[in-house]
Amino acid sequence: MSIRKKEFKKITTHVLLEMKQKGERISMLTAYDFSIAKLVDQAGMDVILVGDSASNVMAGHETTLPITLDQMIYHASSVVRGIDRALVVVDLPFGSYQGNSKEALASTIRIMKESGAHAVKMEGGEEIIESIKRILTAGVPVMGHLGLTPQSIYKFGTYAVRATEDEEAEKLIHDSKLLEEAGCFALVLEKIPSKLAKRVAENLTIPVIGIGAGPHVDGQVLVIHDMLGINTEFKPRFLRKYADLHGIITSAVRHYVADVKSRDFPNEKEQY
Ligand code: KIV
Repeated sequence: MSIRKKEFKKITTHVLLEMKQKGERISMLTAYDFSIAKLVDQAGMDVILVGDSASNVMAGHETTLPITLDQMIYHASSVVRGIDRALVVVDLPFGSYQGNSKEALASTIRIMKESGAHAVKMEGGEEIIESIKRILTAGVPVMGHLGLTPQSIYKFGTYAVRATEDEEAEKLIHDSKLLEEAGCFALVLEKIPSKLAKRVAENLTIPVIGIGAGPHVDGQVLVIHDMLGINTEFKPRFLRKYADLHGIITSAVRHYVADVKSRDFPNEKEQY
């Protein structure tokens, strides 16, 4: 084992639970390829999510629905090759688990065998509990996802904040408890009121990771293209931009084009 590897405590589902118990916040970010995953892991990320948001930010689809299981496995295996420390969680894509629990387990087994990832994430509550239990019997950790669940966008009709009405909030609380009781190791809450997210996080012993769910949860997750400012059009209130890669990349590429056109590149030192 290399010296660098010895310095790392690999992140496992148990480590995440300990972090919640100690009140230490959990950092989570998406990644979809080897090079970015390596940077993210070396920068100290706890959890890397190979999100089905790859459908939007990598493939340019309007929703997360088109991405396939084969494509998720391709992204996940690339990410796994880039990491030493982080826990890698992979989204089960739309259509790979909603049919029945046997299908859900078969999709999960493909992800685990073919990518080397550590866990899967699934959107939904009571309606997918049987599938979650079946996956857990195979020894695969499952992360839940409630609130705004983008695979159901055509049911919701909008990406607006979820569970603002009592009935939906009560269902979310009920579902979160069911997910914990079924054995999920963590739960993502997306775009719900901060007060509701706080109630859920206090009510559960498993870590709750928020995206647009306020500060009173056990960790935060963002889509890397959004927080690095690659997308300029996506500006929800919850998003903090940590860089302006749109500006940096555009300016670098323009500079390169100009250098090629003007024959400035390559110069004498940049040739054999
Ligand atoms: O696919 C994804 O990136 C996600 C996060 C938004 C939590 O599910």
